[in-house]
Amino acid sequence: MAGKYEISYRQSIENPEAFWGAAAEDVCWYKKFTKVLDDANKPFYRWFAGGEMNTCYNCVDYHVENGRAEQTAVIYDSPITQTIKRYTYKELLDHVARFAGVLSKHGASKGDRVIIYMPMIPEALFAMLACARLGVIHSVVFGGFAPNELAVRIDDAKPKLMVSASCGIEGKKIIEYKPLLDKAIDLAKHKPTNCIIYQRQQVSAPLIAGRDLDWVDEMEGATAHDCVPVLTTDPLYILYTSGTTGLPKGIVRDNGGHAVALKWSMKNIYDTKPGEVFWAASDVGWVVGHSYIVYAPLLNGSTTILYEGKPVGTPDPGAFWRVVSEHNVKALFTAPTAFRAIKKEDPRGKYKQKYDISCLKYLFLAGERLDPDTYHWATDLLKIPVVDHWWQTETGWAIAANCMGLDAQPLKAGSPTKPAPGYQVKILDDAGNPVNNGVEGVVAIKLPLPPGTLPTLWQNDEKYKESYLETYPGYYFTGDGGHYDKDGYLFIMGRVDDVINVAGHRLSTGTMEEVISKHPDVAECAVIGAADDFKGQLPLGFIVLKEGAKKDDKTIVTELVQMIREQIGAVASFKQAIVVKRLPKTRSGKILRGTMRKIADSKDFQVPSTIDDPVVLDEIREGLRTIGYAN
Ligand code: COA
Ligand code: AMP
Repeated sequence: MAGKYEISYRQSIENPEAFWGAAAEDVCWYKKFTKVLDDANKPFYRWFAGGEMNTCYNCVDYHVENGRAEQTAVIYDSPITQTIKRYTYKELLDHVARFAGVLSKHGASKGDRVIIYMPMIPEALFAMLACARLGVIHSVVFGGFAPNELAVRIDDAKPKLMVSASCGIEGKKIIEYKPLLDKAIDLAKHKPTNCIIYQRQQVSAPLIAGRDLDWVDEMEGATAHDCVPVLTTDPLYILYTSGTTGLPKGIVRDNGGHAVALKWSMKNIYDTKPGEVFWAASDVGWVVGHSYIVYAPLLNGSTTILYEGKPVGTPDPGAFWRVVSEHNVKALFTAPTAFRAIKKEDPRGKYKQKYDISCLKYLFLAGERLDPDTYHWATDLLKIPVVDHWWQTETGWAIAANCMGLDAQPLKAGSPTKPAPGYQVKILDDAGNPVNNGVEGVVAIKLPLPPGTLPTLWQNDEKYKESYLETYPGYYFTGDGGHYDKDGYLFIMGRVDDVINVAGHRLSTGTMEEVISKHPDVAECAVIGAADDFKGQLPLGFIVLKEGAKKDDKTIVTELVQMIREQIGAVASFKQAIVVKRLPKTRSGKILRGTMRKIADSKDFQVPSTIDDPVVLDEIREGLRTIGYAN
């Protein structure tokens, strides 16, 4: 007999309008949509067209009006500042509505953009929800990005206002944000009218008169602003993500489809009810933070945790268990790398024994491939389902998962189980034909994508089509490679493009190559993602110097490491590069990055028949051995 997952999946594919129309009953609409799925303008699809709603209303006001006013909505837990603060839904409403008043007073209204460049403090979440309240489109930029990356996003989103803080705290380091913000605004062509700065105790940032405003001053006496109805298809946010080129892609998220899909996912994928505590240990700058620190738990009336700390070192590898036990967490969601960090420092799980974590029912992992070793270690340690699930910034929620709220399927190490309802995931060969189970190929999703996924790229329909829809007509190209096994379980094995994943952070090797190419002594370069036991992947540079380069190799590599840190950010974790005489190329001049990656990872490979000169591969292997790869 078919189980709940199978029935839901089948319904979602055979009759998506009925399936998602029913899920939409869980969301409050000011005006009900006229069509569940509008496919009049293929390949652009719109969910719940013709409706009006407000995402902030659904996340906050709705719960205050429906019996959850005194329930904790947000727990801010910051071991690095030794702070724990709880906000009820009523208190959350007060902060958000007043900050919406501040944004509105300074000219932000429906359709305008606001960039939020903030550390993991409650004000980041208030600012996001305040934007949603006004129909203002927020774009949160991860704090680990350097001014140059922020400037690129400012010029694309053209924000009216920016919201930032005086500093972030990374373990023991204080990172002053304000100088980074100022530099980014200097670099950008577009200038925001005002910047609202939250001054943290650790650092008081000098404010620029006439442009910068102090958060606390502005909030004193601010007038609460009500929710502004928006079209369900209006953008809620833009989140920039790394693509294969230097320019990041502005992923657009709509309001209606997003609310429906995320609320559905809380119950059906994460098995988390209103009133229960859900913790996504990520950062609001990433999609996991948007979806599962902020929007989904609040849409669901659950309690969310905003954790300003690390899995280790804040203060020890028991940090996660302390938070779980102290706040009665039912489901924890993080990246596998966080568990590898804990495993490295506490392989026997001794720190776990100090806490009662019997409240924890599920561990969800995503953001990078969950390697079987980490899966087994976490399963043995916790003795609860360790659920790998696969998704992307573009989709905003899981493409494949073991749906714990439907009926759990047997778990398999290395697999995110099966496609989530709404996603027709296919494995295609180079010509775009579906392959049999067991055969590796490119992972694509048959259109239409379900609600909540990207409708387009910010003001760039053409790039949306070109990046995702033109490779295999009728399909969304995920950029990942993988296969199904004989039982129909999906395995995602890694990117087939130039995107890499470092400690769960998505980065573009193309952007790194652009930075390296600016060095006056560099003639040519390639950056690949090499396998790393801890961070999953690490970027590795191959540099060809110009004739007559005056500096020695070591000095140049040191300079390149510094350039990437300054121009992309510390988060790139670019620490190693080797100088080589030539790069391996095809006869038509294409750099063989895939082959270089296989050599670095000591994997078997076939010398491509199109290679210009196979001897170059030996030179690359020798160079890699000098830095501990290709063994
Ligand atoms: N602001 C400023 N700098 C930041 C930053 C931020 N928000 N986040 C990271 N950085 C810096 C780090 O301090 C580090 O700097 P360093 O080179 O001077 O040491 C650098 O960027 C690399 O950071 P990271 O890759 O995160 O490595 P780490 O060694 O500091 O921490 C982990 C490793 C595994 C503990 C950490 O990455 C982690 O907790 N990851 C799992 C959760 C997660 O965030 N996943 C993302 C999406 S789900
Ligand atoms: P991001 O957009 O930052 O969420 O990164 C998305 C990419 O991370 C995907 O395209 C995959 O390459 C990788 N990824 C995320 N989750 C998983 C997973 N569970 N298994 C394998 N790869 C994953």
